[in-house]
Amino acid sequence: MQLQLIKKNLKKFGTVLIKGKENFISLKDFNKIEKILHKIPKEYVTIGDAGEKNNVNVSRLMTDIDKPKLVNKKLSKVVIDLLNKEYLPKFKNIVSKKKLFIRRAQVNFMKKNSFVGYHLDIDSNPDYLYAVILQLGHKYSGGNYVVYKNNSKKTFKPDYRSIIISDCKIPHEVSKVIDGQRTSFVFFLSSYFSKNKRNN
Ligand SMILES: [Fe+2]
Repeated sequence: MQLQLIKKNLKKFGTVLIKGKENFISLKDFNKIEKILHKIPKEYVTIGDAGEKNNVNVSRLMTDIDKPKLVNKKLSKVVIDLLNKEYLPKFKNIVSKKKLFIRRAQVNFMKKNSFVGYHLDIDSNPDYLYAVILQLGHKYSGGNYVVYKNNSKKTFKPDYRSIIISDCKIPHEVSKVIDGQRTSFVFFLSSYFSKNKRNN
């Protein structure tokens, strides 16, 4: 998908899906990122960061409880540094921001019957601008990314290597995985990199 079309769709709908074969992250970098992500330890989560109902395993790279912080640093730093160096300029262009930081990053592993309940990302941090979701799941059914905007519902079906960019002010959920495993790498972009103002 052309950069101008990505920008246009994001502006118009608040969410854009860039198909796997059109992904601007090089295959070499994608493979490197994917390999590292699978080595990070997992934890089981039933309540999400925005207070939503969850049923997922999570590997954390960056947490944002009081402020952004790298965790599992040995592995996560390689991924975050690579994204910052090679791809943050691209994201700045897409979302039309001069200042942009990755504030939180994690991998969500969703098996059959897993889901992420309806929520707003700004409930976990009011300064989140966009969520970026890189799809690492190969073969799965269900697990759609569903957004709710202006009383209408839009369903995105992310394929392997695809990217979703979604405005954090838009409520969304991940529908129940029917079969296979859905694995996604999620990070949140913000123009602010200090204290999480949720606690104020
Ligand atoms: Fe979310």
